[in-house]
Amino acid sequence: MTVNETTVADTKPIIELHNVGKLYGNVRALGEVDLAVKPGQVTCVLGDNGAGKSTLIKIISGLHQHTQGEYRVDGEPVRFSTPREALDMGIATVYQDLAVVPLMPVWRNFFLGSELTRGLWPLRRLDIEKMKKIVDEELCAMGIELDDLEQPIGTLSGGQRQSVAIARAVYFGARVLILDEPTAALGVKQSGVVLKYIAAARDKGLGVIFITHNPHHAYMVGDHFAVLRLGAMELSADRRQVSLEELTNHMAGGGELAALKHELAQVRGVDVEELPEEADLSL
Ligand SMILES: Nc1ncnc2c1ncn2[C@@H]1O[C@H](COP(=O)(O)OP(=O)(O)OP(=O)(O)O)[C@@H](O)[C@H]1O
Ligand SMILES: [Mg+2]
Repeated sequence: MTVNETTVADTKPIIELHNVGKLYGNVRALGEVDLAVKPGQVTCVLGDNGAGKSTLIKIISGLHQHTQGEYRVDGEPVRFSTPREALDMGIATVYQDLAVVPLMPVWRNFFLGSELTRGLWPLRRLDIEKMKKIVDEELCAMGIELDDLEQPIGTLSGGQRQSVAIARAVYFGARVLILDEPTAALGVKQSGVVLKYIAAARDKGLGVIFITHNPHHAYMVGDHFAVLRLGAMELSADRRQVSLEELTNHMAGGGELAALKHELAQVRGVDVEELPEEADLSL
């Protein structure tokens, strides 16, 4: 065990879920999930479509409430009514469709809804210089290089936009950062950029919850892996307990792939021998 693993094992979780479940009417979206999110650690939540990933993060981020089990922050049971309440406890969520105004400059988007002002009413003005300076410093501190903070955020690449959103959450004091499929719409190179900032947020001591379909992306930065299937936790393992191959197989369901291969064999024109023996999802 490395020094880092020892300290991670010893730190108390910020977020704990015990037996948490969610019913929408009588549809069970999530059942009996246990999860702990520790500072300085990346917790990956994996699962196929409809597995319950979004439901899980909606509960953690205060958008929906659990109907079963216990959700604790700093050891205390909580039940958030709004995302604002979660944010006040340092739990910030970066959604895939980032809430940005594409035509506004990068620095304006960074401070959107929390603008700095100076002077007293009625002479209160936006403190533009200070905001620009802070954005410049914060992006630098995360290693994010942009040519011009005046450029509309809509002109940045998807990866850069995600990166700015991560730096923003760090600046506004997030302790837990939830990222809902931040790499889903990105190519290999840009995914790498986002993974780099996930690691940077972790190194700043944040607890990161990284939701993804992609076991390769998860394994590059993850300390803990939770795989959901049909609303249930199918695997919950620390990095040293699971290999990338095992994780990939859990995700793709080795058995399901074999069944699919069998079905496809009935369809003329599909050469099943071309299909991989084991789940092999490349980047
Ligand atoms: N508001 C809702 N009302 C009823 N059922 C819902 C609601 N939201 C989700 N569900 C159901 O709960 C299950 C889990 O959905 P969820 O959106 O959490 O999955 P997911 O893992 O995020 O999938 P995806 O990868 O497609 O985003 C699905 O069967 C879905 O149909
Ligand atoms: Mg989802």
